[in-house]
Amino acid sequence: MAIVIPIGSGKGGVGKTIFTSNLGIKLAQLGKKTVLIDLDLGGSNLHTCLGIKNRHSGVSSVINKQEDSLEEIMVNTEIENLFFVPGDTLNPGTGNLQFFTKQKLIKQINNLEADFVILDLAAGSTFNTVDFFLISSNGIIFTTPETTSVLNAYSFIKTSVFRLLFRSFKAKSMERDIIYNFVNSKLEGSGRSFSHDLLNELYAYSKDSGEIAELKIKEFRPMVLINRVENQESINLGMKLRDITWKNIGIELNFLGHLPEDKEVQASIFRRSPVILTNPGSPFPKELSTLTEKLISDIFPDQPQLYLDDDDLMTIET
Ligand SMILES: Nc1ncnc2c1ncn2[C@@H]1O[C@H](COP(=O)(O)OP(=O)(O)OP(=O)(O)O)[C@@H](O)[C@H]1O
Ligand SMILES: [Mg+2]
Repeated sequence: MAIVIPIGSGKGGVGKTIFTSNLGIKLAQLGKKTVLIDLDLGGSNLHTCLGIKNRHSGVSSVINKQEDSLEEIMVNTEIENLFFVPGDTLNPGTGNLQFFTKQKLIKQINNLEADFVILDLAAGSTFNTVDFFLISSNGIIFTTPETTSVLNAYSFIKTSVFRLLFRSFKAKSMERDIIYNFVNSKLEGSGRSFSHDLLNELYAYSKDSGEIAELKIKEFRPMVLINRVENQESINLGMKLRDITWKNIGIELNFLGHLPEDKEVQASIFRRSPVILTNPGSPFPKELSTLTEKLISDIFPDQPQLYLDDDDLMTIET
């Protein structure tokens, strides 16, 4: 089974698509069969970053039932071992996914034959995006050192953990009520944490429920990557995010590292050719290559077993 790596972020424009394209090429160069999927429905632009012309059917064709499967619309790239599934550039407007369609896509993603499947997600923490992020325990959360970006990354993590716990229990269960009420009862500044207080509430309801939730929290190990880093202060910010997430949510973030600000990245977009191919010695692709080795060694080949949920209208205050 392929290792799925979803790339998410709270704030937009932080570098997910640039990273996805260059990471895909690096993995392919290392001999790993890699599939890149543009799941930024409504804002697909992975083809541009890969330098591929926009004339292929994409995920939207599967959503509209014009095509049967992601496997069928997978495009061969000019790079050996690298495959691509476009988003919705030919068929814009498929951002709102029905529950059954999402379920079908998730199943197909999990069944792709590859070493790695990388998902370039839309920015933000809508439940549809978070559900794609939760396909794997190894998602990467992207942020820049900008304060709003870090705060939005924190919200993304919080929503993901809420959704993870919620989907660990059956629809209409008492456990779901407990989780929902806990999250909506003003967590911030209350000194109450998921890992301690929510688990206690679930344990008080039933020992089994507490154990299930505790295991899910323990196994969920999202990675964090800080992009566009220019100084040490930015790196310290990553540590702060890690500490706060641990203290308030009880999740141990795996701080994958940081990628430098690099003007060659912008130049590569103009050239429509990924920087790792045109300028592999510049700071961004160099650091990305080091990170890829760490990523491969840190992978936890597991997927959270969750119930799917059609109750997507539910909101939480973040
Ligand atoms: N390390 C970097 N150095 C310099 N510029 C960068 C770097 N990373 C990203 N950028 C700039 O940020 C822009 C946005 O990057 P990208 O499109 O990958 O973000 P995104 O997170 O996918 O955005 P969205 O949320 O809209 O999908 C790029 O066009 C590029 O100009
Ligand atoms: Mg993008």
